[in-house]
Amino acid sequence: MTDLSDPGFPAPPPLGVSALPAGTFDGEAVFVTGAGTGLGKAIAVEFARLGASVVVASRKPEHLDAGAAAIREVGADVVTAQCDIRDADAIAAAFDTATDAFGLPGILVNNAAANFPSPAEDLSPNAWRTVVDITLNGTFLCAREFARRHLAAGSPASILNVGASYAWTGGPGFAHSAAAKAGVKNLVETLAVEWGPAGIRVNGLVPGLFPHEDMTDDIRGSLDRTHDKDPCQPALRVGERQELGWAATFLASPYARFISGHTLVVDGANWQRRTLTNPPVVPIRDQLGLGPFENTDQVG
Ligand code: HXC
Ligand code: NAP
Repeated sequence: MTDLSDPGFPAPPPLGVSALPAGTFDGEAVFVTGAGTGLGKAIAVEFARLGASVVVASRKPEHLDAGAAAIREVGADVVTAQCDIRDADAIAAAFDTATDAFGLPGILVNNAAANFPSPAEDLSPNAWRTVVDITLNGTFLCAREFARRHLAAGSPASILNVGASYAWTGGPGFAHSAAAKAGVKNLVETLAVEWGPAGIRVNGLVPGLFPHEDMTDDIRGSLDRTHDKDPCQPALRVGERQELGWAATFLASPYARFISGHTLVVDGANWQRRTLTNPPVVPIRDQLGLGPFENTDQVG
């Protein structure tokens, strides 16, 4: 049993405080995918607070508007670029929009991802393909477009891939996302070496549990079934969005110029094993409140 009199990790400094010197990103532009919601928005706002201009890239107009409003609120310049990161041409057009507005962005944050809980056996081929296509292929296509432009220009740059810790542990109920995130994490290592000589750093950033108001209904539902989230973390609390923003801005900053090929996990040690044996096994269908598997594809 968790002793709730234990203090756990203290709360972080409040939202709005920056970890890096003011103006660290003056004159720079950062391209953030999925910056209109949740953690992408929090990361983008932290760059903006430190002087960066921001490109908010995603599919839905309401998300683009929300991201732009959040950046303007902290007094930074922003442009939105509607694109589906599964579409290489749309990504190229988004980088054109960004470059017209601010010059070629020096930082890319590959934050956009897709996810919903499902037992693996229930996933249709298209459901699997959709999550892998957005999370892994989309991340690669954005990195490729960004790097090609910097390689041609001979300019240094920095890429951050947002991951998830089930890249290492596996993710029951999230087979598609966990497999895709394992690919995203592996890309960090390969691309850091391939593009290092050209001055392009590539790092990963893995959030632990960071609940926020924009979570999709599916993810929120899964989270709501997980009781007592705070005492289930070694830190005895979940993450606060500014903690991710500080980590992201550090990794992309001049103070991290010798860091590349690294994935930083910001999760209060939640993914490490903490007992000699694990808790009792609860089948994933039971965790998701589902009945027995029925193969509706079977004929006869
Ligand atoms: C089973 C589902 C499903 C669900 C969709 N599908 N939702 N299958 N359970 N809940 C299936 C569909 O039936 C379809 O397959 C296929 O997936 C594609 O669905 P579409 O709706 O056509 O896809 P699309 O419009 O491209 O939307 C993608 C999406 C959607 C992933 C389904 O949820 C989305 O746009 N999400 C973006 C935001 C997001 O996912 N954020 C979560 C990030 S959080 P068929 O066979 O019927 O054609 C994260 C880590 C959280 O990654 C960590 C946990 C705490
Ligand atoms: P979120 O609010 O659902 O954000 C996902 C974003 O991705 C949305 O803004 C969405 O914008 C964008 N997106 C999805 N599909 C896209 C596509 N095809 N093209 C372009 N943009 C697309 O989720 P979040 O919780 O902030 O997650 C952000 C990142 O953190 C993800 O990589 C996620 O895997 C990771 N993560 C989160 C947690 C957590 O606790 N929240 C934990 C571990 C990892 P549009 O709908 O407008 O396209």
